[in-house]
Amino acid sequence: MSELRAAAGREPGGPSAVAVAESNVDPAEVAAFERLAATWWDPAGPFWPLHGLNALRARYLRERLATAFERDPSDPRPLAGLRLLDVGCGGGILSESMAALGADVHGIDVVARNVAIAATHARDSGLPVRYEVGTARDLLARAERYDVVLCMEVVEHVPRPAELLAECSRLLRTGGVMVVATINRTASSWLMAIVGAEYVLRWLPRGTHRWSRFVTPDEVEGALAAGGLEVRARTGVRVNPLTRRFGLTRGLAVNYMVVACRAGGSADMQAGVSP
Ligand SMILES: C[S@@+](CC[C@H](N)C(=O)[O-])C[C@H]1O[C@@H](n2cnc3c(N)ncnc32)[C@H](O)[C@@H]1O
Repeated sequence: MSELRAAAGREPGGPSAVAVAESNVDPAEVAAFERLAATWWDPAGPFWPLHGLNALRARYLRERLATAFERDPSDPRPLAGLRLLDVGCGGGILSESMAALGADVHGIDVVARNVAIAATHARDSGLPVRYEVGTARDLLARAERYDVVLCMEVVEHVPRPAELLAECSRLLRTGGVMVVATINRTASSWLMAIVGAEYVLRWLPRGTHRWSRFVTPDEVEGALAAGGLEVRARTGVRVNPLTRRFGLTRGLAVNYMVVACRAGGSADMQAGVSP
């Protein structure tokens, strides 16, 4: 039985409280993303921050991944032939950018409507992305392995982030690269990501984030280490509240990204200094 069916209590024989408790999928998060799913590709809708952030993170990923795999970042398709998993792909904003860089993208999400919208959009854009409803744990059970695993803006939406990160790590082949993006658990993130973004500026629907679910860089890096990965780079991400423009920053107090690799292959990167 897949982890998702267990979480939804849809497994044959009726719902199992144990299966729901063991799952790392939060039914309230699933319901919230289901409600918003139709708006994924509206650049002025509730997901505008992901649209605003996307060009920046795609540039960062292009540079980091091309270098890690000894490709030329200025090549039009520097990720050609790399097997890339986008965990929690949502409507496919990031998956499509990675496919446009040549990666062989597999996007998974626990929300069926997200996956349907992502698949339709990729087809209409002429991008060959494979989407599937499921979890990292489901892929582990199938012994899938990837050159690149992205887990971006997802761990703050699951009950046990460290568990999801360890599962994602184990999906990485030797020499592969994983990138995590999330929000730190600090006083600044409470002020900016909750009070500012949800209540004052109303950039996001109230309740989008719970501060207690935010994850510190130490917690992310500890989970990646537990999965056998070595951290190679980290950078903060900031947004200008007036212009709504995103940029990289040294400070990790609010949004940040961590790059790690499973040492031993061509992507055994040199320690990076970021941003
Ligand atoms: C804030 S969105 C980020 C979407 C995408 N990663 C991006 O950055 O554009 C979080 C996504 O994680 C998904 N999600 C929540 N829990 C998940 C889980 N346990 N496994 C996989 N995806 C999950 C949600 O359905 C939602 O699409």
